[in-house]
Parts: sequence; C-alpha cells; structure tokens
Amino acid sequence: MKVSLKNVLGWAEKRNCAVGAFNTPTFENIRAVLGAAESAGVPVIIAHAQLHETEGAPLHEIGPLMVWAAERANVPVCVHLDHGEDADYIRRAMDIGFTSAMIDASAKPYDDNVSLTRQVVEEAHARGIDVEAEIGALASREGGDGGAGAAVYTDPELARRFVADTGIDALAASFGTAHGIYKAKPVLDFDRIRKIRALVGIPLVMHGGSGVSPEDYRTAISCGIRKINYYSYMARAGLNAVSARLAAGETTFFHSLAADATAAMRDDAARAIAVFCESCPRA
Ligand code: CO
Ligand code: CO
Repeated sequence: MKVSLKNVLGWAEKRNCAVGAFNTPTFENIRAVLGAAESAGVPVIIAHAQLHETEGAPLHEIGPLMVWAAERANVPVCVHLDHGEDADYIRRAMDIGFTSAMIDASAKPYDDNVSLTRQVVEEAHARGIDVEAEIGALASREGGDGGAGAAVYTDPELARRFVADTGIDALAASFGTAHGIYKAKPVLDFDRIRKIRALVGIPLVMHGGSGVSPEDYRTAISCGIRKINYYSYMARAGLNAVSARLAAGETTFFHSLAADATAAMRDDAARAIAVFCESCPRA
C-alpha cells in the first residue's frame, strides 16, 4: 500500500533500523525493489531523481507506474521524489500522487536554501505530503563520480537552525558519504551524525548509501540514520548480470536480459534491506 514518508520513518524509528530508498528509473528497478521488500516483509521507499529525467524515464511516464506499483504492493511503500531542484518539478510529482519529496537547494547560500525549502514545505504539507531537504553538500551530485570534488560537511548547529527555520520532516546531512561508485572506502563521521540527530530531533537521511560497509551501516543507524538512499551498486548488479549473459554468447532476446537484470537487482536490494533491517524483530 502507498504510505507517507513519516509512516515508514516512524516504523524505522520504533525499531531502531533504517528504511531503504531505491531509485527506480526503469520498470525493472521497480519490480526488483518491491520484490525484495515484499520477500523481507518490510516497508520501502521507491524514488525518482530529477536527474533521471533524461537518462532513465521522465517523471510523467515512470511516476504513475511507481504510484500504481506502490498501491498494489503488500508492504508499505513511500513514493518519493529524490533531489527535486525546483518547486514546479516537485509540484508535478505531487500531482502524480507521490507521498514525499526532497527539495535539494543545498548548493545555494543558507538563506536561499531556507526560503525555497520553506516554500516547498508549505505547499507539500497543505497537501499531506512530507518533505526532505539537505544542508551541507555531498561530494558529488546524484549519479556522480564517487567523491571527486569537495564535500561540505554539515555543521550540527546550522542543521538545527535549518530544521527549525523550515519545518521539514527528514534531513539529509553530509558526513562522509558520496554519490556514485566509491573510488576509496568512505570514512564516515559518526560523531557528527550523533550530534546532528540530537540537535534536530527528526530522522536523518544518508545519501550515497551504496558501497558503505555493513558495519558502517549498523553504526550509522545506531546514530540516528533512518533512511538510506541506495542505488548505484544495485544498478551495477543489473549491468553485471547482463554483461555475463552477453559474454556467454547465448542467443537471446532483450526480455531475457531484462529478466536477468531484474533478478540480480532484486538480490542486491534484498541484501541491502537485510542489513538496514537487522535490528527488526522478524516474523
Ligand atoms: Co542523493
Ligand atoms: Co528494520
């Protein structure tokens, strides 16, 4: 069933674990992620990143499919817009039936970040939709190169002000992760996560979650991370499955490649979900 971001984050808070948020730019991704969540019997977040508008599928095509799949799933599914860059685009997602949106104005000066985020919060909350926003900037953009360029680590006190000034429901902070495939093992600043969580009082979001070690996930979750954005390694698992099938030289139709990619991405998402949800009492 389709639910709000607050619903799935509340579930994670109660169990001291995290909900996985997976980008789903293709139908295969949607099937893989919902298949993994349904087998595990846990809530999940499926997300469309504005960046996938051109590479992947545009919001007006993949968005209704995500909403449809969420509504018929037998676990709670939040349908989320990832890294929304402007109010108009976010409004389009809300019109389609998304239950949550991220406004990412983290590259702007503090006051501009606050005013754009507040504008989105006012509109979204009036429609019963939850909002995630970001303060501090990750080392690379979504779909990025895994850490080239300078990260701006989130200042805990500024994070407290930002949450108070905007009224957001979840906060993405920067503490050592990066988007994309990591070139070197990420070093996470757990103390910073703990401080931010204590000051802001709302669930925290880890971006650039794929490629982080199981041990670091565990520690980050114990520090207050409740949503983990995971995509690049799942997408690569799909690619690897396709490459292997092609290398085997079997004559095949495209649907065989899509099926192989779906199965490999479902397994990868299932492994991630198992780590995020280790602390849950399981049936
Ligand atoms: Co991100
Ligand atoms: Co759990």
